[in-house]
Amino acid sequence: MDETQSPINLWGKRLVLGVTGSIAAYKAVGLLRAFAREGAAVSVVMTQAATKFVTPLTFEVLSGKRVATDLFESHEEMAHLIVPGQAQAIIVAPATANFLAKAALGLADDLLSTMLLNAQCPVIVAPAMDGDMWTHPTVVQHVQVLRGRGVVVLDPEVGPLASGQVAQGRLPAESRILDAVHAALIPQQDWQGQRVLVSAGPTQEPIDPVRFISNRSSGKMGYAIAEAARDRGAEVVLVTGPAALAPPPGVTTVSVNTASEMSDALSLHFLSSTVLIMAAAVADFRLKMPAEQKLKKQGKSELILELESTPDILAMLSARRTSQIMVGFAAETEQVLSHAKDKLREKGLDLIVANDVAQAGGGFGSDDNAVVILSATGEQKALGLMPKRRLADKILTAVRELCLSAPRRESLVE
Ligand code: C5P
Repeated sequence: MDETQSPINLWGKRLVLGVTGSIAAYKAVGLLRAFAREGAAVSVVMTQAATKFVTPLTFEVLSGKRVATDLFESHEEMAHLIVPGQAQAIIVAPATANFLAKAALGLADDLLSTMLLNAQCPVIVAPAMDGDMWTHPTVVQHVQVLRGRGVVVLDPEVGPLASGQVAQGRLPAESRILDAVHAALIPQQDWQGQRVLVSAGPTQEPIDPVRFISNRSSGKMGYAIAEAARDRGAEVVLVTGPAALAPPPGVTTVSVNTASEMSDALSLHFLSSTVLIMAAAVADFRLKMPAEQKLKKQGKSELILELESTPDILAMLSARRTSQIMVGFAAETEQVLSHAKDKLREKGLDLIVANDVAQAGGGFGSDDNAVVILSATGEQKALGLMPKRRLADKILTAVRELCLSAPRRESLVE
């Protein structure tokens, strides 16, 4: 492909290209250029054996970065290579049988294998070896182990090999490796065309000008859903109560304080939305009469506050819905599923995400969560403890499968 016509699919992505000691190591040069043409910043790590086939200088010139070859050397590139979370994908091409064995067993005797043990990003492996090696039971087993752990191991291609054999062992074509990297890094645009309204965070109900009633919601779940929907192509409006999180870029964010303000903001955007995801922990009660001045404690041994219930936003919007899909959350500490089922029915929802906030490791404030999704049509899907951003994607997939792909609901408005 002409370089000027290359798509910039990998713009700004930080990739690590691991090169191991196969005769196909020279093909990694083409791969590096392809990544760079698509806008990626690539750091190359070579094993000692790889340097016998291609010099580090070749990759240094093309990547503009020092090539790391030794676990014990020290230069500025090293720090960023070994810190987990820095790379967005690690691609090992070509990968030898020796590399597959070390990765499967978790050996860490050189920089590349050590990095794999640190990796928090997708790992894509493109093997190249003799045909008899690829079909050897040991290699077959190592590939199985790696795939079982979520590593993308591409099948090598059939063709003439360095040994003279014609067999399966050739490095997968550059386009196949690029496709695997795209699939790992570029989210599906399966929410394109949807206008998603998300609520997040707690509300604050004033007691007086300086005090309020609130709850432990951090907003992390709702923000993660807003970001995931944006990344999957949706137009997103986020209505958020007070949360210590930065407004997500590319999302229209509306900040509110009280349940009543949240109700107004959601009402404004509801009819033009296709999906409402109500992840906010809206206060159920507020003061009947918040004090206009700061309450004084002098002379008082007790203070009784009179509360009234807040409007149930979901129930109110559900009564006004035209064709919107409505998803609620149920944060519970006991009888989680039966309470969630009641809310699903009472609030007229399509889906409810039931969340046991008393469980260890998940719930309010945590970066992780485990939930059960219940649908109005009786489906139930349990999602184990995982980061909220991943959970957000799974919730969006469930909404798409259970609601958006289902036959369009009839308008409830005459
Ligand atoms: O009834 P409960 O507050 O437990 O229901 C939880 C669901 O209802 C959440 O999706 C929450 O955002 C929503 N809710 C609401 N209006 C309220 C209280 C909760 O829409 N006043």
